[in-house]
Amino acid sequence: TNITIIGVPLHYGANRKGVDLGPDAIRGANLHDRLEALGYSIEDAGDLQVNRLLQPAAQDEKLKYMNEIARVDQALCDTVSEEMGKGRFPLVLGGDHSIAIGTIKGVLRHVKRLGVIWFDAHTDVNTHETTDSGNIHGMSLAALLGYGHDDLTSIGGSGLKLLPENIVIIGARSIDPGERAFLKAKGIKVFTMHDIDRNGMKQVMEEALDIVSNGTDGVHLSLDLDGMDPSDAPGVSTPVSGGLSYRESHFAMELLFERNLLVSAEIVEVNPMLDQHNKTAVAAVELIGSAFGERIL
Ligand code: ARG
Ligand code: MN
Ligand code: MN
Ligand code: MN
Repeated sequence: TNITIIGVPLHYGANRKGVDLGPDAIRGANLHDRLEALGYSIEDAGDLQVNRLLQPAAQDEKLKYMNEIARVDQALCDTVSEEMGKGRFPLVLGGDHSIAIGTIKGVLRHVKRLGVIWFDAHTDVNTHETTDSGNIHGMSLAALLGYGHDDLTSIGGSGLKLLPENIVIIGARSIDPGERAFLKAKGIKVFTMHDIDRNGMKQVMEEALDIVSNGTDGVHLSLDLDGMDPSDAPGVSTPVSGGLSYRESHFAMELLFERNLLVSAEIVEVNPMLDQHNKTAVAAVELIGSAFGERIL
């Protein structure tokens, strides 16, 4: 496999400085060499350009920084789609989770029936009508399903959509009231921390992988580092306690690799400004290592 690394130093979707430093924090944790050691051929396309906006968003805005986010997502969609057109595997480094709109729309141009593993403490299915924060990183999955503001849903062409039955969310423990109703109405499978406590990661991943591989032609991994427990991944923009342990997260990635389903992946929400010794970026690279075949023995 040939992998292209694409950095997206965007923080506007989280409305918090520091996530824009994610791509270099992850590169600095040895991503390139680690993947090369596994036998992959790696190219780094560098970072997409994100404009510096000097005007802060108003407190009550419901789509904070939408114009710049939509512009960057469109550029990301085109870049991802171009790399896939060359037969390469896009590995996108965020940036906040609003970049998933661009990544996944680009992948959808090549893989129409796409499964998605959304590893996250949150479910990111708000729209401007349900959001409390107005932060677009909490709306990306809804937009990919076709819900929310036109400027977000139409990125990459409005015909491109995920289907609810091809998505699983793993690690959720912070879901807003409007999101709960949405998830229920659309029938999206959410494996909450409760499910993982009750059944263990092995059973959860087996079920999850069955769902995302059923009737699809490939699977995308959207890895929000806040899915991990903040004790193992403190450098994230919106930490929530009670998350996935270091070992549970690794095991999930190892099981994912065994099924050989991935066509694309992204690492999001790494915020080195809130971190200790780049711990979160290091954990992110270790998880990616496991997802790409690293084994203990
Ligand atoms: N549900 C909250 C919101 O909509 C938090 C979202 C956090 N999303 C993330 N990708 N970290 O504001
Ligand atoms: Mn190299
Ligand atoms: Mn997220
Ligand atoms: Mn999250």
